Formats: sequence, C-alpha cells, structure tokens
Amino acid sequence: MGWFSNLFTNDVAIDLGTANTLIYVKSEGIVVREPSVVAIRRSDKKVIAIGKNAREMMGKNHKNIEVIRPMRDGVIDDDDVAEIMIRSFIKRVVKNPLNRPRIIVCVPSGVTKAEKRIIKDSTEQAGAREVFLIAEPMAAALGVGLEVLEPVGSMVIDIGGGTTEIAVISLGGIVSDTSIRIAGDEMDEAIINFMRRNNNLLIGEREAERIKCEIGSAFKLEQELTTKAKGRDLVNGIPVSVDVTSEEIREALNEPVTAIIKAVRASLEKTPPELAADIRDRGIMLTGGGALLRGLDARLREETSLPVSVAEDPLTCVVRGTGKVLDNFEKYSKVLLDN
Ligand SMILES: Nc1ncnc2c1ncn2[C@@H]1O[C@H](COP(=O)(O)OP(=O)(O)O)[C@@H](O)[C@H]1O
Ligand SMILES: [Mg+2]
Repeated sequence: MGWFSNLFTNDVAIDLGTANTLIYVKSEGIVVREPSVVAIRRSDKKVIAIGKNAREMMGKNHKNIEVIRPMRDGVIDDDDVAEIMIRSFIKRVVKNPLNRPRIIVCVPSGVTKAEKRIIKDSTEQAGAREVFLIAEPMAAALGVGLEVLEPVGSMVIDIGGGTTEIAVISLGGIVSDTSIRIAGDEMDEAIINFMRRNNNLLIGEREAERIKCEIGSAFKLEQELTTKAKGRDLVNGIPVSVDVTSEEIREALNEPVTAIIKAVRASLEKTPPELAADIRDRGIMLTGGGALLRGLDARLREETSLPVSVAEDPLTCVVRGTGKVLDNFEKYSKVLLDN
C-alpha cells in the first residue's frame, strides 16, 4: 500500500497565521495564500465569504454581517469559525477524499492544549490521514534555511499580525521562546490612534495597514515618504484626506516597535551564554510580514549591536519551512510538537 498511496497523495503543509493562511502542497508549491478572515451572516450564522473576499468586507460590513479573524491574537478567538476556516482552506487542496494526505499545521506557539485539539480535529475532519503540529518559530527557522538540528544557536524573530515570536533554536528544539501580542495589528492600531490624536481623523484598520506598508518605518529613511490618509474628520464629520509623512508614522509606530525591541533584549538576556555567543556570530533573522517594516533591521542592529537580517520573502518562510518537514519527514520529524 505504501508506494501506492505515496503515488497519489500529495502531503500538505499549512501556516495557520493570525493574518494570513498559506498552504503548500508537496510537489506543487504554495497553492493557497489568503487572509485568515471569515464573514458570517448574523441572522442565520451562514458563512458568506472566506479569505480575500471576507477581508474586502472588513470595515465595510453592515449590521447583519460579521467579519471575524478567528486567529486574531495568536490564539483561537472563535472555535467554530476557526474550524470552518481551516476546513474550507483544506478542502480546496484535498480534492480526492479517498487519497487522504498527511498534513502538518504550523501554529503560533501560544496555542493551548485545547486549541491544538481543535486544530487537529478540524484538520482531520477536513480529510487528513494524519495531522502533525509544528511551532511557528521552528518552521520559520527551517524556512530561512537555518540548520536547526545542529548544536548551534540561532535566533529567529517572526513578526506576524497578532504576535511576535522570539525564539532561540538549537539541536532541533526551541531553547527559549518569548511570545508577545504586539505585532502588525498593534502597529495598525497605533497609526489609527495617532491620526485621531494628531489630525482629528478617524481611519479604518485597512487604511492604517496600507499607510504602514506604504510609508511605515522604524528607522530614519534616506528619503522620507508621504501618502494621503483617508478617513472621517472627527470635528465636522465629513470624509477627508490628509497628507501624512513617514516621520509622523515612525513616531506613531514607536510604541509597538519599542515593545518588540524590549522583548528581544529580554530574550537575549535569558539566553544561555554558549548560545548567546553563537547568536553574536550568526546574528538574528527576521521573518513574518512585520519584517518588511522599513528600517526595522537597522533599528534592531543599532539597539542590540548584533547582525540582523531580513529573510528572503518573509511572508512565506513559515509555510516553506513546514513544507521542508514534509519533504524530509524522516530527518525533521523530531522538530514536530508532541501533541
Ligand atoms: N511592507 C510591510 N510593512 C510592514 N508590515 C507589513 C508589510 N507587509 C505586511 N505587513 C504586515 O505583516 C502582517 C502579516 O504578516 P504574516 O506573517 O502573514 O502574519 P501571520 O503569520 O500572523 O498571519 C500584517 O500585520 C501586515 O500588515
Ligand atoms: Mg506567521
């Protein structure tokens, strides 16, 4: 049966992120890349959209539509909705229910035992033959090509939507792991608050995220940028658009960025000396969408005096790392979570 099922089953790797869900299918590559968002009609609890389409509705929904991000803070916010989302994404790739794939799901390291259960159960019900879990920083480290099985310390910082995970990895395990609930979402929120305070302008979550990606930074830019922020004037209530500069947005982002730096410092302080020496030599690797914030690497370099690099294609590191475990299951099965 072995060779036969191998021939017809493409195993699946899933990065169940707080902002984005990505799915990698063995020998096909990344086949799903969607926001982790579900839109539900309140009256009959019917799911009306999942992924990109649901995200489009964020901030534009009426009373009868609820737009939910079930993984929002790195934990499952809403069991039922999380389950619907997981099953819907998996169904897209498991086309033949007779060929049940092996699935590895990458989860934020803050998930509880009960949440792991939900993720495992929903993945099984969606058609998995076997389900394995892997911690996000481990997958990220594999995705950037770090030799995680060696007796050498590596530090990976994964900045996603809901959580920033700072992990030191050595010998196939996580030596220390700090997870804080300050990441991309808090940056967006900081921009919303800044615009309200300084410009009397109320902007939406998606507009804040756009501004962050377009002109956000954590370090002085060679060429400062500007954009227009569109929202509602809080004084007279009319829609307006206001010019904002990257200097202003840097000031707005200072609080969440500082919190991330503080957590990195704390994590370095509790790293055993031998591993700290490795990190000094090899530096820190940044992954996740937050790694794309301009000058975050420069800022961290300045604050820690360590080499800091941004991973190539940081948004797909985790799913590629999870895929690597699928592709070399024997070699990497020891990095999987126990349950
Ligand atoms: N160019 C960018 N600059 C700053 N933040 C970005 C950029 N691109 C994406 N992000 C942020 O990265 C986060 C999503 O990253 P991702 O790694 O997919 O998160 P998760 O793993 O939690 O799903 C979002 O908060 C998004 O706004
Ligand atoms: Mg992630």
